[in-house]
Amino acid sequence: MEGQAKKQVTGYLLFSLGTAVIGSLQFGYNTGVINAPEQKLRSFFNDTWVERYGEPITPGVCTIVWSVSVAIFSVGGMVGSFSVGVMANQFGRRRSMFLVNSLAVIGGLLMGFSTICSSYEMVIAGRLVIGLFCGLFTGLTPMYVGEVSPTPLRGAFGTLHQLGVVVGILIAQVFGLEALLGSAKLWPLLLALTVAPAVLQCILLPFCPESPRFLLINLKQEEQARKALVRLRGSEDVSKDMQEMKEESAKMAMEKKVTILELFRSAAYRQPLLIAIMLQLSQQLSGINAVFYYSTGIFESAGVKQPIYATIGAGIVNTIFTVVSLFLVEKAGRRTLHLLGLAGMAISAVLMTISLLLKHIAVMSYMAIIAVMMFVAMFELGPGPIPWFIVAELFSQGPRPAAMAVAGCCNWTANFLVGMSFPKLVELCGPWVFLIFTGFLILFFIFTFIKVPETRGKTFDEIAREFGGPPPNPSSPEDHPASASTATTLPASPVKEK
Ligand code: GLC
Repeated sequence: MEGQAKKQVTGYLLFSLGTAVIGSLQFGYNTGVINAPEQKLRSFFNDTWVERYGEPITPGVCTIVWSVSVAIFSVGGMVGSFSVGVMANQFGRRRSMFLVNSLAVIGGLLMGFSTICSSYEMVIAGRLVIGLFCGLFTGLTPMYVGEVSPTPLRGAFGTLHQLGVVVGILIAQVFGLEALLGSAKLWPLLLALTVAPAVLQCILLPFCPESPRFLLINLKQEEQARKALVRLRGSEDVSKDMQEMKEESAKMAMEKKVTILELFRSAAYRQPLLIAIMLQLSQQLSGINAVFYYSTGIFESAGVKQPIYATIGAGIVNTIFTVVSLFLVEKAGRRTLHLLGLAGMAISAVLMTISLLLKHIAVMSYMAIIAVMMFVAMFELGPGPIPWFIVAELFSQGPRPAAMAVAGCCNWTANFLVGMSFPKLVELCGPWVFLIFTGFLILFFIFTFIKVPETRGKTFDEIAREFGGPPPNPSSPEDHPASASTATTLPASPVKEK
């Protein structure tokens, strides 16, 4: 199998995957980019205010404008992630990616010209548009990657998405350095830089194939699909892939599509849906983005002299542990890693609180740095990557797209709540603020311990049976989805691929 899989990896496939993953990179970049220039943005808000009203902005209003600029990104993300299915089916995967890039150009330009136009509203509008763009790409990239990858490597390639995200965050942190683009003059360029990868992706996309699955299953263009496959696999003999896609097509025709409403109504989906939503919430309410959006501020209040370097350190740790998790997740299991990650994050949050409370002691600034690094490392061990792909494992072909839309939307909503409320919470709770996340982390640990089954190496059928009953439609091929039929929404397809 391995040799065969290797043979299927062509330069053209890697080129196509690399092009698609620019979208994940964009999501990461725009998540991380707002962190470093906080003070510059705040003084820009103040300057604009003075220019308009002849008086400085009050700290409260400034915090609100700042929080909105950060968090409105997630509002766009909510809408975007919810619209992925419609868009991808209407325009195809490749053309959707192409079209969606126009949002990056609009958003980037709005933010880039905000200082010239003396308008902080343009920063807010830009962040909203960029959020929409990222929400769409959090669905489009994994979908395309999953669909063009050879079945035996779909899991491995699926993880490229999260890796793209963390590398994007790191790039944003490095570019955010005062000496690079994080200065009072250049921060608009830092925010506008997202236009460049968008343009690059638009140049490269026409050289990538449309997803063969989309061509065959949605458009019924068999010959086109075959041609795309021949180029991707580097071999004339693609009959196995074609056969498998035709089977998927037949199964999809037989299977009843499950709408979001039905997903909530049917008792059969209640347990997996609850687990899917809770795991998404555990990812976001762990407080991870409080760190990624605001870590520079956190380090500063802990007395760290060069907070930006600590932030970059966190980005490096983040990337390293994502790679570690890639290797561990098929060995240690999802449940174990998720529990370990949540527990580790809870402990790190307590350490962070102690270091903030005792910041008058010089050594505490080091403890703050270590605590944040541990927090991030533990996140990437489990709560970072696992919630994304476990949803795909918990649902079979029929309900999966609806489940992924609901899960994605919950994720972005929780992301929004944390982004929006964190600065206010800091004002209210001061150094105690991370204990709120400790509370959530303990709750999610208990929930995971009691409710979440181990899904590693199990077929969907076995997983469904663990939820206390046969899958909702026992006579349908949903019972056997462990065949390669799940690529459409299964980027990190875990089941029996090894
Ligand atoms: C996950 C989360 C995202 C977070 C990132 C950090 O992708 O969905 O919100 O910023 O991990 O690595």
